[in-house]
Amino acid sequence: MANLQTEFCGLKIKNPIGVTSCDFGGHDRLLRRCTEQGIGWIIGKTVHKIDGPHRWPRPYFYSLRRFGNDMKDAWICSQMFHNMTYERWLSEELPKCLKTCEEQDVLYIGSCSGIGADPETWIPFLKDMEAAGVKMVELDTGGPHATFGAVDAHKDVGAPLAMDPETAYKVTKACVDAVKIPIMFKMTPQCVNMAGVALAVEKAGAAAISANNAFYGAWIDHETASFFGVPSSMGGLIGRPWQLFSLAKVMEITATVKIPVLGGGGSFTYDDCARYLMAGCGIAGLCSSIYSRGVGVLKECIDGLNEFMDRKGYQNIKDFQGIVVKDFQYLREWKREKQMADLTPVIPRFNEEKCNMCGICVTLCPYGALAGEKKTNKIPELTREYCFGCGWCNGHCNRDAIEMIHVDSNEVVWNGYGTIKDWVKED
Ligand SMILES: Cc1cc2nc3c(=O)[nH]c(=O)nc-3n(C[C@H](O)[C@H](O)[C@H](O)COP(=O)(O)O)c2cc1C
Repeated sequence: MANLQTEFCGLKIKNPIGVTSCDFGGHDRLLRRCTEQGIGWIIGKTVHKIDGPHRWPRPYFYSLRRFGNDMKDAWICSQMFHNMTYERWLSEELPKCLKTCEEQDVLYIGSCSGIGADPETWIPFLKDMEAAGVKMVELDTGGPHATFGAVDAHKDVGAPLAMDPETAYKVTKACVDAVKIPIMFKMTPQCVNMAGVALAVEKAGAAAISANNAFYGAWIDHETASFFGVPSSMGGLIGRPWQLFSLAKVMEITATVKIPVLGGGGSFTYDDCARYLMAGCGIAGLCSSIYSRGVGVLKECIDGLNEFMDRKGYQNIKDFQGIVVKDFQYLREWKREKQMADLTPVIPRFNEEKCNMCGICVTLCPYGALAGEKKTNKIPELTREYCFGCGWCNGHCNRDAIEMIHVDSNEVVWNGYGTIKDWVKED
């Protein structure tokens, strides 16, 4: 059995899988459902005093499932911060959550939001939580709800706050100086200059960065010719595919700063979590997948990670944590032909035994370079002068029957797994 134990900001945790800020960390009853799945950590629902307890427009979860099966894990959410009064949460709910976490050996991380860039509105939460025994606090700076049309009046609130390195520095520094426990800064994916914000909060003394908060979204019901849910922009949960974007943003951070990073966004499976760890994160978080699939998704990720590590011979998380970060580069640095040859030297090679002549590559070749017919019982025929060597046929073959090879050497440039071969020779 692999050893999943690890540490984050000097705090020991039994495994790197956990739950990012949402309802599940807001109430002991819900938190317990997650801790029973064996998670290593959980973040509390964001507490605040912005306008008293938040009143969410009910209903506030709008699933996009009815707009097509490809939208089944996408939804928009007009829920905001904790709906409980801060005082009640602090005196009743937090102690219960801390006790459950202690009993189940789970790291509880607090989450709070002040009012914009005024540090005095953040610090009291940190002091209260530190006094209550919370070991670490996340600053929820980047809620999506205030992003749309973020004009000057809103620049200190929600996502716009987290996009500005100077404001992020100011808030973080004041918070770090106010308490002894580690402070984690939460990023918004809307931030274009994420490396800049990461450097600013590292300089301010943040112990860690978490990425990412939800995107923002809006939807229109074309049948009723009206907004779907609430007519505003709000949290946009994009399901598993959005990991593609969040992972890239996370790597902007891990390739830039030295402090630990919590990675999440679109994680549904153990390999999604492994990807965030390989991208340099210390811990990997789930959120909307728990809503879409149920709390059991957490145990599946932990068990899956365990089996994966055994299969790969990784004994500890450290054996693969950050394994790809050193290879991360700008696309413009990757070796290429001086001028792309008119006739591609990289072409598909078909494996006759594996090909079942389904014809998908013929249909999908964007350049019309493949011809073939099921009834002729022949593998697809390549028209070399039409082929661009793009690799799309390989990606869509569900029998692994296509490899991209170099015509001179016959060497495989890409078999559809891992990184392409750097086949361009230096002059
Ligand atoms: C229902 C719901 C409530 C959330 N509430 C908060 C919150 O109070 N504070 C916060 O920082 N993030 C909150 N988030 C954002 C998540 O913690 C997470 O950053 C985001 O959903 C992206 O991860 P995912 O793709 O795994 O869902 C919430 C997300 C959901 C779905």
